[in-house]
Amino acid sequence: MSRAAVLCGLGGALPATAVSNEELAARLDTSDQWIRTRTGIRQRHVVAPGEATSDLAVAAGADALASARRTDGNAAADVDLVVLATSTPDRPCPATAPDVAHRLGLKTVPAFDVAAVCTGFVYALATASSMITAGVSERALVIGADTFSTILDPGDRTTRAIFGDGAGAVVLRAGEAAEPGALLGFDLGSDGSGADLITVRAGGSRQRSAAEAPDASDHFFTMDGRPVFTQAVLNMSRSSQALLDRVGWPPAEVDKVVAHQANIRILHAVGEQLGLEDKQIVANLDRVGNTVAASIPLALRDAADDGELLPGHRVLLTGFGGGLTWGSAALVWPELHTG
Ligand code: UT7
Repeated sequence: MSRAAVLCGLGGALPATAVSNEELAARLDTSDQWIRTRTGIRQRHVVAPGEATSDLAVAAGADALASARRTDGNAAADVDLVVLATSTPDRPCPATAPDVAHRLGLKTVPAFDVAAVCTGFVYALATASSMITAGVSERALVIGADTFSTILDPGDRTTRAIFGDGAGAVVLRAGEAAEPGALLGFDLGSDGSGADLITVRAGGSRQRSAAEAPDASDHFFTMDGRPVFTQAVLNMSRSSQALLDRVGWPPAEVDKVVAHQANIRILHAVGEQLGLEDKQIVANLDRVGNTVAASIPLALRDAADDGELLPGHRVLLTGFGGGLTWGSAALVWPELHTG
């Protein structure tokens, strides 16, 4: 019997304020029709002034810990590791995870951030899973949380149409590979030659060591949409196929593909590359937009709550984001208590 990390809790949190396409169109040169047809998004949630990534991470973490307690009876106090995927930490230094762990009452457990933008959750899941299989951790809280509304250019109609804020979380426990919920494998990759396609130019050591002060606009997030679209389809399809080959699941035998929710046209294109039917593809981006590191766990939570994701389903997770980075994970969906 081989030791594995087993998913046993799932949670999520969204800020209270939802912004519809119509509300955006009242302030920017865009339209509900353009956003819906080009991206599939109807609304996104945004944080209130003063609300930070850690606030959403704590709410999602508490939700996942409550779900894990209802699922296997173990208390939050048994968690011995927190990994937080985020590219919008509360501050550049220190990491946000120790504060989140502290506020969740997890005392002095190891806690650190993982930065892989929209692939962050899959990277964090692989990190925590590996620490469990190596015997370093028995029970881990893995959170994906981002507040991209805080780094968007208020005048950039493209990024403001797409991105939303949120957090999603899972609890992993030590178990066995044959159990439902066991993480069966990962495929991870990066290509730093595409670092400029998705970026915030200012704020890091490169700009801080420069002789001249940066332009104010260099502090905003920028994305070169078209090449990112192409790379997202290519790398999520390749990574998914590589992992499915390793796990031995033909695409037709996967029940649900939960891909990073960036654009409905990307989800359909990945589906086409893998030969999937629409019913295999989970989509919640119409309600939340692209929530970056929160995207995959929030899509899992919505699909579980909607009854779309059922115990015994073969589930493939796949993400793509800045870096460039990408990654996939496979598991059989367990019996979980959420909500
Ligand atoms: O999460 C990490 C990974 N991110 C992604 O995967 C995002 C990938 N990229 C995309 O999803 C798409 O490229 C976008 C949604 C960002 C843009 O859609 P597109 O169909 O690729 O549009 P485009 O950038 O080629 O622009 C087409 C036109 C342009 O106008 P012109 O130059 O043809 O006159 C844009 O200025 O659409 C215009 N446009 C808009 N029009 C109305 C761009 N954004 C908007 C908007 N409203 N919000």
